[in-house]
Amino acid sequence: MRFLIIALLSLLGFITIIAASLGSTGWWILAALALALLGLGIHDVLQTKHAILRNFPVLGRMRFLLESIRPEIQQYFIERNTDGRPFDRDTRSIIYARAKGADSHKAFGTERDVNATGYEFLLHSTAPVAPPVEQHRVRIGGPDCKHPYDMSLMNVSSMSFGALSKNAVLAMNKGAAMGGFVHETGEGGLTEYHLEYGADLFWEIGSGYFGCRDADGNFDADKFAAKAAHQNVKGITIKLSQGAKPGLGGVLPAAKITPEIAAARDVPMGVDCISPASHSAFSTPRELMLFVKHLRDLSDGKPVGYKFCVGSRTDVLAMCKAMLETGITPDFITIDGAEGGTGAAPLEYEDHVGTPLTEGLMLVHNALVGCGLRDKIRLGAAGKVATGSDVVKRLIQGADFTFSARAMMMATGCIQAQKCHTNECPVGVATQNPHLYRALDVLDKGNRVYNYHKLTVQEAAQLIASMGVSHPSQLNPRMLRRRVDHLTTRSYAGLHNWVAPGALLNGAPEGWKADWEEADTENFGEHAPLPWPTQREAAPAIVADTVPPKRVEPKDSTHRRVAPVHPHAERPEGKPAPKHPLQKR
Ligand SMILES: Cc1cc2nc3c(=O)[nH]c(=O)nc-3n(C[C@H](O)[C@H](O)[C@H](O)COP(=O)(O)O)c2cc1C
Ligand code: SF4
Repeated sequence: MRFLIIALLSLLGFITIIAASLGSTGWWILAALALALLGLGIHDVLQTKHAILRNFPVLGRMRFLLESIRPEIQQYFIERNTDGRPFDRDTRSIIYARAKGADSHKAFGTERDVNATGYEFLLHSTAPVAPPVEQHRVRIGGPDCKHPYDMSLMNVSSMSFGALSKNAVLAMNKGAAMGGFVHETGEGGLTEYHLEYGADLFWEIGSGYFGCRDADGNFDADKFAAKAAHQNVKGITIKLSQGAKPGLGGVLPAAKITPEIAAARDVPMGVDCISPASHSAFSTPRELMLFVKHLRDLSDGKPVGYKFCVGSRTDVLAMCKAMLETGITPDFITIDGAEGGTGAAPLEYEDHVGTPLTEGLMLVHNALVGCGLRDKIRLGAAGKVATGSDVVKRLIQGADFTFSARAMMMATGCIQAQKCHTNECPVGVATQNPHLYRALDVLDKGNRVYNYHKLTVQEAAQLIASMGVSHPSQLNPRMLRRRVDHLTTRSYAGLHNWVAPGALLNGAPEGWKADWEEADTENFGEHAPLPWPTQREAAPAIVADTVPPKRVEPKDSTHRRVAPVHPHAERPEGKPAPKHPLQKR
């Protein structure tokens, strides 16, 4: 095929050159074009990177062209209103409309299949009440907090300066300041852009302790105390994990580190900025609680909580036991769902690791209820919260308030192009390229963030009123139903086992017993192996012979280099695999 294409291009070049030398000058343009294509064809045949170009010179380039515009074709021409991912067109449209303060109503009825399995609906009351004039707020601050904070039902979830452009951070800060809701900083530190418009901040601290670290990357108490004292800092979030990449640290590549980012994070220029997978300030549930207290003391009693994506139930119960044992409770816990967003993560993590928000949220809520701790701790939920009904559903499932990241990005102008990790965000939201982020007008987009938040929490309050209650605390799991098959819908009250207050303390209920007994305040751990051997656990003879089985404890990952599992696993690139001893030579 490649010879045919090159032959045709050569013929075309030959004919156009003859025509040009005999006819008008216009033929020279065609001749030049034909020769350029011939040159490209020869280059394609000779290069060794792309097999498709070697076999189909020039023509093969169509594939790359179509691949590059596939997302746009999908989004603009193929996608239906209800099936885009991560956010469908209906959801995106409602965010954009609310952000602009425009009409977000839709005519003619739902396009969703209300008979499809998994469809969820809220139950209205026959006697709805009037919605409140002021937005609902929830008080954050347990028994040991000196400066409680009244939180909006929806807030800006953590996104670092570095992942977002400075203009995007500024716009969110302006919107949050206007609307009186929280702007959580992200683990990249507290920057001047988070302070610009005076929004209420929750300062997030991740395993890299950016902005409060010593030269070795460990937590620095003095630096923390100085920043936590800022009047705009209303609370502190310790980040344990993130739904889109739980169990994995993060890297901001050296190329993306500007002098401003380096200063905000306390990291050097020219080297990758690493967030380790786990914290160095604590490594057990008990130490986590002590760290909570330490931060609360250092911040003179501001609300301190932590954010995580739920992994094993044993870990959650170990945290509860640690609270009971130490008498220290966080003021809030935010649950991030596996469906949550990120600036960059491996697809395997985005698609296959972590507990989705519904299950994670209900698990933590029930664990706290079962330990008699729920009234001391407020629960936040993050994971595709974009509309009023998303907020209300999460409140019913156990949350007290919600955080939103990507919907806030959309209010700031994000078009879901999903190129955040490339530094080429076309609308200037997730890039450090000044030529791109200059297009993001802070004043206009700040107003949009304000509008979007205001209209969404208003809609949530209206829904709560339509359900016949006047306050979120009166919502209960019977008010949300889910279709489980074609004939049956069930309420969340009937679908799940809701643990009775204090039940875990008085001989845990059957389904919880094993995990409750296993939970240990001195260990975050994996699920213990089954007590009987399974085929999966019987190691293959060759491995058993050569490598003694060794468990790598997750808590050691910051301190030790994790050794490869098997010496043969490190096969030098390019060398053929060793031949099997029985293979014929
Ligand atoms: C661009 C981007 C950057 C993020 N950075 C952080 C971060 O620094 N710390 C964190 O805890 N979560 C981070 N997240 C996760 C969000 O805070 C949030 O928990 C998650 O995206 C779920 O909310 P959403 O579905 O409304 O986006 C980030 C998310 C995005 C999209
Ligand atoms: S427009 Fe695309 S690249 Fe920019 S923030 Fe949105 S998803 Fe990321």
